[in-house]
Amino acid sequence: MSRIAYINGRYLPHREACVHVEDRGYQFADGVYEVIPVLAGRLIDEGLHLDRLARSLGEIRIAPPMARAALGLMLREVVRRNRVGDGIVYLQITRGVARRDHRFPPATLRPSLVVTARQGAGFPSDPDTWAVAAITWPDQRWARCDIKTIGLLPNVLAREAAREAGAYEAVLVDAAGAVTEGAAANIWIVDAAGILRTRPLDHAILPGCTRAALRDLLAQAGIGLEERGFSLAELRAAREVFLTSATSFVRPVTRLDGAPVGDGTVGAITRRLFALFARHIRGQRDNAR
Ligand SMILES: Cc1ncc(COP(=O)(O)O)c(C=O)c1O
Repeated sequence: MSRIAYINGRYLPHREACVHVEDRGYQFADGVYEVIPVLAGRLIDEGLHLDRLARSLGEIRIAPPMARAALGLMLREVVRRNRVGDGIVYLQITRGVARRDHRFPPATLRPSLVVTARQGAGFPSDPDTWAVAAITWPDQRWARCDIKTIGLLPNVLAREAAREAGAYEAVLVDAAGAVTEGAAANIWIVDAAGILRTRPLDHAILPGCTRAALRDLLAQAGIGLEERGFSLAELRAAREVFLTSATSFVRPVTRLDGAPVGDGTVGAITRRLFALFARHIRGQRDNAR
């Protein structure tokens, strides 16, 4: 079956889905994006993703190209047309097509809106086979990592470094030795004292939707969380490390820079949170729309 993409009001075969060379996304990475997980054809945590999209657009001063309700319908239509059961829907909005000039084009310019969807592996069956290795890597990104922009070159280089080292994720460390986040995920630890920690939100990290959902689940379950940053040394001394993202859900990290995290197996707290998140997903996946 051929894939279908949505581009500026049209549903097109994937191979014909092109944007103009003077699209500001192509020229300047002048745009934002979202990745929303799809399970059993349902969009997971859609509200969180559309809230963050609105915030990202506001921060870079692009007007929403479509009303939220219409956007939701269109995302579902892309999922349906691509017959995605388990996978992702990808959405990108750029400032539009204009003669190349760093300054903003007139505010009347129509933003470009592209949506694709693709089939994926679905929710993992157990945390042990889902566990990954990570490396640490210098955080060389800009000062507004809280905006989900398509300018991802440092993230791309970090993820490639991880792959070349036989690992999945790169844990980014700033010049002061503080862990910020992963190249494409938020990072959590159970520290040497047994405290579950993740860095508080600021301009140095993306406000992950999976992070937000898990934070709510922890509060509901009465599980303690300290939103307190941690250093590379604390990361290395952690009993457990895991990452969260729309495509990784809750993913254990059992090796770091070639050394075992804790005893090298998935820890009890990570295991519990994986199960908590699985229930959260099941609740949305199995509910009638
Ligand atoms: C840099 C970065 N941090 C964190 C995340 C996790 O965000 P979410 O849980 O919304 O996928 C991502 C997701 O791609 C990311 O790219």
